[in-house]
Amino acid sequence: MNPKNHWENIYLNNPPEKLGWYSPSLRTSLEWIRSLEMNRDARIIDVGGGASFLVDDLIRLGYSSVSVLDISENALSLARERLGEKAEQVTWMVRDVTRADLPLQGYELWHDRAVFHFLTREDEQKKYLDNLNTSLVPGGYLIIAVFAPEAPPKCSGLPVQRYAAEDLVKVIGQDFELIRHQKELHVTPGGVEQMYLYCLFRKLQ
Ligand SMILES: C[S@@+](CC[C@H](N)C(=O)[O-])C[C@H]1O[C@@H](n2cnc3c(N)ncnc32)[C@H](O)[C@@H]1O
Repeated sequence: MNPKNHWENIYLNNPPEKLGWYSPSLRTSLEWIRSLEMNRDARIIDVGGGASFLVDDLIRLGYSSVSVLDISENALSLARERLGEKAEQVTWMVRDVTRADLPLQGYELWHDRAVFHFLTREDEQKKYLDNLNTSLVPGGYLIIAVFAPEAPPKCSGLPVQRYAAEDLVKVIGQDFELIRHQKELHVTPGGVEQMYLYCLFRKLQ
């Protein structure tokens, strides 16, 4: 099955609160975003945001230029419907991040929780990283959460690439500086433990 069909089916056939990555609030992401003290009109993109509540929290905090990109229309519909009228404040992008062409220096912050780790092929990783590099402004931030080495080898039935911080630093490349990192244990609604690695990078000027 191609990735788009896989993800559309996942969101069609499961309530969002039963999905393995469900969290009512992405606490670490939010704390880190707040700690950056960016202007409230900073351009933020949540890549593979799915039906996550990060966008709700960002709007509540007054961020006015938030984009959510996901390969699944069904996922974004869930978030849009939940937000009601507030959904109009958000730019919704149904795209595959490994195929999309994103705007040149379009964002000050790129957020990704549990998307990059699904890219196990070098060509897919390269396209993702090309997009990251071209669409993030110099001095912009990357918050990325991937499975750590002790996490299970699969997520959502798909194989994932697991990373220690030093592995991710190599892959993200020399145009980025690692500012902070930490592990975070996530327990799925089904009780499975998944250790995430959260990293904050800054793109060099
Ligand atoms: C594990 S979920 C994480 C969702 C969200 N970031 C969160 O933390 O709740 C992975 C998400 O990435 C999306 N996705 C997977 N591959 C993608 C791709 N190539 N381009 C864009 N989105 C993708 C899926 O549809 C899904 O919503």
